[in-house]
Amino acid sequence: MITLGIDTSCDDTSIAITDGQRVLSNVISSQDALHREWGGVVPMLAQRAHQERFDTVLDQALSRAHVDRGDLQQIAVTVGPGLAPALEVGVTRALELASTLKLPLRPVFHMEAHLLAVFAQSASGQSGAAPTAALFPALGVVVSGGHTELIRVDQLGQYTLLGETVDDALGEAFDKVARLLGLGYPGGALLAQLAQTGDPRRYDLPVAMRQSGDLNVSYSGLKTACVRLHRELTHNGERLLTQQEIRDFAASFQRVAIKTLLYKVRRAVQDMSFQSIWLGGGVAANTSLRRELRSIAREQDIPFLTPYSRKLCRDNGAMVAVAAHLHPTTAVTQLDRQPRLHWSQWS
Ligand code: KG4
Ligand code: ZN
Repeated sequence: MITLGIDTSCDDTSIAITDGQRVLSNVISSQDALHREWGGVVPMLAQRAHQERFDTVLDQALSRAHVDRGDLQQIAVTVGPGLAPALEVGVTRALELASTLKLPLRPVFHMEAHLLAVFAQSASGQSGAAPTAALFPALGVVVSGGHTELIRVDQLGQYTLLGETVDDALGEAFDKVARLLGLGYPGGALLAQLAQTGDPRRYDLPVAMRQSGDLNVSYSGLKTACVRLHRELTHNGERLLTQQEIRDFAASFQRVAIKTLLYKVRRAVQDMSFQSIWLGGGVAANTSLRRELRSIAREQDIPFLTPYSRKLCRDNGAMVAVAAHLHPTTAVTQLDRQPRLHWSQWS
């Protein structure tokens, strides 16, 4: 099944072509540079950029996959959650394409797509997992700039949200602390890179929600502790941090940020008999998080699944196409964006 997958949920214009689970092309046009001067995503700027870039990204996706419009068999598009003006571009263009090409159009839930990205396979079919019955029930961990969620997956299409952040998302916390350290926007990946050569025990930072009795996490306390620590270290901004202090700060933050999440992952794994752990979302690119989750899975003697490339972790069209292939929704001829779409509305 040759699928065209579209995601314009936030600030990446992404279009991919897949054949079943195999990714033939996955083009992402990032708008980071556009939003950088504002220090965050500006919805109306994102919308205009999606409109301007859509056709170019579509042409690239087709040519890189060596696929013509006539070869396409279905279209999949993210309907939510995301920024309404941004989602609207993808949904509108998908409707137009489906009507012109007379193809079925399937709406896709962005969070499910982040999870099912673990089943994306390389064009040769060599990398990427197969969704076998032995993997269920699975514990899904989705961590991005907008979400931090633990999900129970009983089957493809059968999901229960077990816990989530009560305030900031994990990626958002990485980005905010990165900005505090003067690493620019979005600085999460750079902060993680610096953390690799820092001392994670140099600074003491708090792990929140440990005793909350549920599977929710919180990152606002950690962020506030980081602001306070930064103020102390810089004497209220009167001195700059040294390179080593920045690395140690990054490492100390990363250790506690990940520990906060792992605490709840461990509890979930102890309470329920999961047969696998899946990790998706932009922060799934984090080496330390991957290593820790892999080790929890190993302790439990269950498989750990994460997308075979970092590109499949961030927002991308291939995860949308793969989700539509593995869990096909009813084809529609009318469609509205759903900026607040939630797991409970999808299962
Ligand atoms: O999934 P994504 O591309 O967009 C959203 O839907 O939010 O995730 C982007 C987020 C950003 O917050 C970015 O800083 C974070 O993922 N991120 C990382 C790493 N790479 C990207 N956070 C920690 N470690 C990384 N290596
Ligand atoms: Zn996302």
